[in-house]
Amino acid sequence: MTQQNTTTSSAKLARDGFTSSFGVLAATLGSAVGLGNIWKFPYLTGANGGASFLLVYLLATLLVGLPVMISEIMLGRAAKRDAVSSLKILAPAGQPWWLIGAFGVLAAFLIMSFYSEVAAWVFAYVFKAMGGSILSSDPAVTSAAFAALVADPVQSLLWQWGVLLFIGGILLLGVSKGIEAVTKKLMPVLFLLLIVLGVRSLMLPGAAQGLSFLFTPDFSKITAGVVLTAMGLAFFKLSIGMGTMITYGSYFKDDQNIPLTTLRVMGADLFVSMLAGIAIFPAVFSFGFEPAAGPSLVFITIPAVFASMPFGHVFMVLFFVLTAIAATGAMLSILEVPVSVMVGRFGVSRPRAVLFTLLLLAAIGSTCALSGSLLADFKLFGLNMFDLFDEVSSKLIMPAGGIALCLFVGWVWGFDRMRDALSNHGQLQNEGLLRALFFVIRYVTPLLVLLVMLSGLGVF
Ligand code: PHE
Repeated sequence: MTQQNTTTSSAKLARDGFTSSFGVLAATLGSAVGLGNIWKFPYLTGANGGASFLLVYLLATLLVGLPVMISEIMLGRAAKRDAVSSLKILAPAGQPWWLIGAFGVLAAFLIMSFYSEVAAWVFAYVFKAMGGSILSSDPAVTSAAFAALVADPVQSLLWQWGVLLFIGGILLLGVSKGIEAVTKKLMPVLFLLLIVLGVRSLMLPGAAQGLSFLFTPDFSKITAGVVLTAMGLAFFKLSIGMGTMITYGSYFKDDQNIPLTTLRVMGADLFVSMLAGIAIFPAVFSFGFEPAAGPSLVFITIPAVFASMPFGHVFMVLFFVLTAIAATGAMLSILEVPVSVMVGRFGVSRPRAVLFTLLLLAAIGSTCALSGSLLADFKLFGLNMFDLFDEVSSKLIMPAGGIALCLFVGWVWGFDRMRDALSNHGQLQNEGLLRALFFVIRYVTPLLVLLVMLSGLGVF
């Protein structure tokens, strides 16, 4: 018994994790905030009706995002293991809940495949912005510049591999010295840059129209498909339903207040999305762009916006640097899922796990990098690989993972264990709140996600 206790506690001591409260917050927020806020949120909001979409997204964040995120972090911290092992040891023997973690690993590869390509465009744009080659107030010029990048297979691949090497390098340094140290430095810079840009955009002539697009709802735009898109965005944004938050939860400190940290992360994440919307939509209207332009929105509007303002060159470099920063924190957390599983379950050394993940990703990811060029006509279910991986992860794997997690916590793990875990073994007085949360996790969230998935996918 004593022998076993000593082994367990020294194994826990040896495991790398986040070292300070601010570090926990920076890394978790670093995972949530990313291209989802600056690239996906604006273009999806633009394409799906503006404010009404925003409203559905907010509801999804509260009713689905919050309970799932708290559950994941809680399970990770309770088990202190990777996403697969955590569910293996928390679940009764023989029950296959660990599949949530396994599908999480799959989702990590799918997401990272297209995510690293968007990040590749962002990193490329940092350098192009510095050189001034993409700066033009003529939308035709900025669209052509973006189209040229996407259609160039060599550039697309090389930038993607460059991004992968960069992220791999940080991951090699470990959890506290890599992920935590880097996000702690970068997140404050990100907030500062975004505020500067938001203020600048609000001073543009067309600002009012952009704001009213973002804040006046048009309920006729809400369809079952739009609701699923909004919910998928909530999963994607909060990095939930695929094991990232289980993994990060396992690095949380024991005295960290999980519900409060989750609320803070959600609030800050929303704030960043709103700031990104405020920086982009006024500009879109001011320059007569189409708000429903799709994934290329950020890459063609932003350069045009900056081209026509004083010190635009500097602002544009700042914008893409900040987007690169946001993407970095998120990519670290996506890759940490497979890396930690390889280390935790298969006993592979961290450097080998990182290397193996990168190689596999370079292979799978290249199908997304080439989706705009050599593989443009290669389609499954009518979608190229880039769009397919995006849809499958946000609309299938993550919501299904969310349902499974809620069912596990609500029906298998149970209230007593949840209360113990979320009150830090009785140190926090939050019983009333936890009872309400448990009810939502047990009934509301899983049912809601199921309904949205089935209707959004056209089952009824
Ligand atoms: N939340 C990240 C973003 O918004 C993306 C992400 C998805 C990160 C899933 C981790 C896991 O960009």
